[in-house]
Formats: sequence, structure tokens, C-alpha cells
Amino acid sequence: MERRKFLRNTGLGLGFIYAPFSLAEASKGISKLTLPEIGDQDFDWEFVRKAYDPSPDFINLENGYFSPQIREDYEKFVGYGRELNQRTSNMMRSDLDDETLETRKAMAEFCGVDLEEIVLTRNTTESLNIVINGLELQKGDEAVITDQCYPNMINAFRQREKRDSIVVKEISLPMDPVSDDELVNAYEKAITPKTKVILVTHMINLTGQVLPCKKISEMAHSRGVEVIVDAAHSFAHVDFQIRDLGADYVGTSLHKWLCAPVGSGLLYIKKEHVSKVWPLFGDVENDPENIRKFERQGTQPLGTRRGIRNAIEFHKFIGGRRKEERLRSNTTYWTQKARSFRKIIVNTPEDPNRYAGLGNFRLKGSNPGPVSKALFDDYRIMTVPVDTKSVTGIRVTPHLYNTEEHLEKLLFALERL
Ligand SMILES: Cc1ncc(COP(=O)(O)O)c(C=O)c1O
Repeated sequence: MERRKFLRNTGLGLGFIYAPFSLAEASKGISKLTLPEIGDQDFDWEFVRKAYDPSPDFINLENGYFSPQIREDYEKFVGYGRELNQRTSNMMRSDLDDETLETRKAMAEFCGVDLEEIVLTRNTTESLNIVINGLELQKGDEAVITDQCYPNMINAFRQREKRDSIVVKEISLPMDPVSDDELVNAYEKAITPKTKVILVTHMINLTGQVLPCKKISEMAHSRGVEVIVDAAHSFAHVDFQIRDLGADYVGTSLHKWLCAPVGSGLLYIKKEHVSKVWPLFGDVENDPENIRKFERQGTQPLGTRRGIRNAIEFHKFIGGRRKEERLRSNTTYWTQKARSFRKIIVNTPEDPNRYAGLGNFRLKGSNPGPVSKALFDDYRIMTVPVDTKSVTGIRVTPHLYNTEEHLEKLLFALERL
């Protein structure tokens, strides 16, 4: 995608939209930080930043829930909605199947997988529920999950435990592992001859830790165990192709770091497994080997399907590796400094190979809820408190549109909390 085209369509050239806090004030007592090297200093990050349209009312460092579409894509998306609202069934009947197929094709190419291995869904929760509820698991069969898996997936497995008497083993993962082996071993120790499947969260939503999926998958396969990967946060954030994970099943949300419309997700099922997974929305008309059996989804927002393709184009314009490095540099920027603050504990691993754009800190002696509230009330910084049995802290997820000033303001606040 050409930069010129973006400039023409978005009318960028208007001034920077943030209502900035006083950097001079914020910087008092804080030594000036420089952005870590991101490998490609010549890239026009200002152009990318201005393609987004965040609220001027607060600094949004909570992009982990979902990401905004860029302004140009959002305007197109509104147009798709308007057209659908005018043409209704005339448009849906003629275009939905074609749009779905076009988007699946674009996605298959983007992810480096076969068209017959992917289904568009509404989100990771739906994608992984299809797998978790669709696998033929019998009484006594075992599944391994972790204390840092996402609650919706834990619930899906626990429901199967109640309903089908499978056994779900929950292992504890280290927050700051010294090696990949530590993580691989944590899974391996829980595997028995009865284990059928394990769930691996590629990027943990609580701390940002990135797990070595490929190594875990190789170990599991050597023990005859299948692997489900929850890639909700890693997809289009960490630069990888689906097959790099070595997994049998992968679910993700496209409305997170890809910046596609809200309510868009993806499910990958390795071709040889398609026939054995029961669809969540019943289907007997398709051949069991046909991935289309998972497409009995009812009426869908057509514009979302188109919007996914637009998001892929913008992602490609930036480049996956460059985007990953940029997002990681945000986390490196604030965590490096915050680690030296007296009252701050950083919950994200220190090794940059084990994190990217998602970080987490804890304020000693305080509950995360009030701390996150104070950040918003006193500094207009949006974060999210995390309080689970394994992680307590505040999650910080800056996006491509956040500035150095935003991170400086966070640091300013963290020193004073
Ligand atoms: C690791 C992980 N998995 C799954 C989900 C669920 O995503 P969605 O709500 O889009 O289904 C999330 C949401 O934040 C997540 O962080």
C-alpha cells in the first residue's frame, strides 16, 4: 500500500490530535529516555501514528482488549454498514459468500496456510470453543492447561470436565523463566499416557510473556499429544506464520493487534484434523473433511469480512517484523526505567525475547484496581487492573499510535504513585 494513497485519503497533514500533558512538568526528575533501537529508524512512524484516530480525552494504554481500526479503514467500514443497511438482503444474498471466500483467501496467504485449514469466526473465544467442545474426548482423557490461560478457555475445558468427565490438569507457569526448557518441562511433567491435548497461550494476556510454542508442540507431539494454541494476543503482533507454532489448532481474534473490525476472529485446524472435530453449530450436510462445516454461522456482518482485508493491507504496509519491534520497543522503553523505581515491580519477563507490546507492573503494597483508577483520574492514562490467583498488577498495552510523551507521562505517574 502506498503512503501517498493513505495521505490522500486520510487528509493527514492536520496537526497532531492529542491534547498533550505538559512534558516539561512530567519530565521533572525523570532523566530523558531515548527510544531503544528498533532496527528501522527511517520508517515513517509519524505517518502510521496519524493514521489512527484515538480519543483526545485520555491516553489509551489499554489496547489489549481490542485495537482500533485506522481512520481510513473505519470510514470504509461505516460505508459498508450503510450500504448493507440500504440494500439489506439484496446485498447479503449476493455478496456474503463471496466476501467470506475472498477474506479466507487473503487470510490463508497472510498466515501461510491452506485455504482449507481456516475458518473466519467472531473471536478467539468462538474459535477455541469450536475445538475444545468439538474434540472427541472420553471419560478419563486428560487435558493440560495453565494457571495463566484465558478464563474463557479454562471454562470451556472445565465444562467438558463436568459434562464428559474428562480430567483437566492445571499447571503453574513461571513468570520470568530462565529458559525455554523450564516452560517445556512444566508441560511435560503433567503429561501422562491419558493426555490427549494441551492448551498453550502464545502471549499471556496478563503479563505479556511469550511462550515457546514450537518447542512445546514438538515435545507434546513426541508424546502423542495434540496442541491447541491461543494466539489472541500474538497474532499480527509477534511476527510469525501459523505453521511456525507447530500446533494442531490455533485460534485468534483479528480485532486485537491486526486492527480489524470488532467481532472478527480466525480458527486454524491442521488439515489432517478437520474431519475429527465436531462443529459447534451443527452441520451434517458438508463432508466431515470440509472446513466449510464450521461455517454454519448464521447471518453475519458483511462489512466485517471486508474490513479484515483492509486491516491485512495496512499490516503489510508496516511489515510484521517492524511492527513487532516497534511494539516491543514501547514495553522496553517504560519497563527498563520502571524497574528502577522503588515501589514498582515489573511482572513482564526481562528478556526481550519473551515479550513484545504487552507489559505489566505491580505497585508494592497496593491493589491494582485503585492504582489503575488513580492513573486514569489523576493522569488521564487508561490501563487495566489484573488480579488473578497467579498475577496481580496493572496491564499496559501501548499501540502504534502512542507517543514517547505518553510513555513519559506513564513513567512520571509511576514514580509518584
Ligand atoms: C489470551 C487470550 N485469549 C482469548 C481472549 C479472548 O478474546 P476474544 O474476547 O476476542 O474472544 C483474550 C482476550 O483478551 C485473550 O487475552
